Amino acid sequence: MKYEHLPHLDKELLRMKVVVFSGAGISKESGIDTFRDEDGLWKQYDCDQIATPEGFDANPKLVLDFYNERRKNLLNVKPNHAHLMLAELEQWHDVTIITQNVDDLHERAGSSHVIHIHGELKKVTSSENRLDPNCIKDYPLDVPIKVGDKAADGSQLRPYVLWFGEYLSGMSAVCKLIQDADIFLVVGTSLTVTPASNLIYHAHPEVPKFFINPEEVSIPSGIEYIKAKATDGIDTFIDRVIELTSRE
Ligand code: APR
Repeated sequence: MKYEHLPHLDKELLRMKVVVFSGAGISKESGIDTFRDEDGLWKQYDCDQIATPEGFDANPKLVLDFYNERRKNLLNVKPNHAHLMLAELEQWHDVTIITQNVDDLHERAGSSHVIHIHGELKKVTSSENRLDPNCIKDYPLDVPIKVGDKAADGSQLRPYVLWFGEYLSGMSAVCKLIQDADIFLVVGTSLTVTPASNLIYHAHPEVPKFFINPEEVSIPSGIEYIKAKATDGIDTFIDRVIELTSRE
């Protein structure tokens, strides 16, 4: 990590609140498909059929087969350089990762404060009451969730993943974290899905904000666009953080 050789590090500027908002693009180079790229999941599958409560009610086996495939695939992928650098940044700053991703690559890279706003592939829940804490449980990724498997409340077991049209809980706490950020990074998201995509507007106007994406995405003014894939753009971001937290 570059910090070890950094001269004149301005100690009182360290431990800044760095908040990261990540999307599927940060996991692309780990081998996990995004949703809206040319080879994305929503180009291969009909999201109305497999990512809505109505689709699940109509054909639970189709939906479970889709998520069982993604759950099993999680065992074959690993964090990439972008995940790892964000984890290493915790040695110098207070880093919070707010992710739309349901994979566990941020955690496996070593990030210790990860908030999954769209759920987690590693967990299952009730199909009657998705947010019932007594029903949200870790479930082995190599064990398929089958029709007939029951949650703690006796309802059909389902993945603990947010589907379109379902209520996104915890947004006010997440907005507060972004409002309090000293540095804000958005990486690997098309900013297509609300309300998650509105989070980009919650950072304080005066703090440094960065957006890493190899493609053109329309973003608000005042955000530094790092036009690169995550594993390259993250090094540019880290260099900028070093500039911001050190004085010659
Ligand atoms: N590095 C960084 N970004 C990348 C890379 C890469 N190597 N490859 C692709 N991208 C970018 C794409 O340009 C795109 O802008 O990642 C973004 C992925 O966008 P989406 O596929 O729309 O994924 P995301 O923004 O996370 O979707 C949000 O939509 O379907 C729902 O719940 C699902 O959480 C998901 C939400």
